[in-house]
Amino acid sequence: MNHKGTVMLETNRLRLRRFELDDAEAIFNNWASDEKVAQYLTWKAHENIAVTKKVLSEWGNSYQNKEYYRWGIVVKETNELIGSIGVEGNKENRLICEIGFYIGREYLGKGYVAEALNRIIEFLFTETKCNRIEIVHDVANVNSGKVIRKCNFKFEGILRDRGLSNELELIDLAMYSLLKREWR
Ligand SMILES: CC(C)(COP(=O)(O)OP(=O)(O)OC[C@H]1O[C@@H](n2cnc3c(N)ncnc32)[C@H](O)[C@@H]1OP(=O)(O)O)[C@@H](O)C(=O)NCCC(=O)NCCS
Repeated sequence: MNHKGTVMLETNRLRLRRFELDDAEAIFNNWASDEKVAQYLTWKAHENIAVTKKVLSEWGNSYQNKEYYRWGIVVKETNELIGSIGVEGNKENRLICEIGFYIGREYLGKGYVAEALNRIIEFLFTETKCNRIEIVHDVANVNSGKVIRKCNFKFEGILRDRGLSNELELIDLAMYSLLKREWR
């Protein structure tokens, strides 16, 4: 895959950077404590900031690994940390990556996730050897589907009972992909 690790990236309005230990309060307040944000995700809202600090220290330790990609999304104008976007490589086919993302409720509807996602797509297709990017979402999470389609991913179908909600219930996942040859 020619991995690069979580390097600093920029867009017009956003800075994508590594998380730091003193981000705990912003993470907890801006999204991690919010059940609405975690509604369609695999993790549960953090009950207290100690949970956030523990997660953050795990992320921090992982950054030394060049195959680890987890960016904090920062609005350049206000320096506010509003969410996260991450990439996971497929263990069997090294040319496949999967992207996941979330932002705080206060920052919805401003196109921030699509802007961050487009930059990550460019990074993966130009800086690494990734050939196919996948994103899945809980079929009930319609806003996520809108963002993914805005970034020109193709809908491939519904994977029945493929996912587990954060309540450990089976859920159907919508599967999308974008190939390097059809990008741009
Ligand atoms: C899904 C999510 C990533 C969308 O990010 P975003 O930056 O708000 O995306 P956009 O600004 O492009 O808006 C997407 C849609 O959200 C809806 N939306 C806009 N403003 C909104 C608001 N204030 N409140 C709720 N929904 C809103 C609109 O339907 C919009 O579609 P449109 O652009 O066709 O009008 C974001 O809602 C989120 O982080 N949710 C929680 C975590 C999550 O579900 N992650 C995805 C897991 S696969």
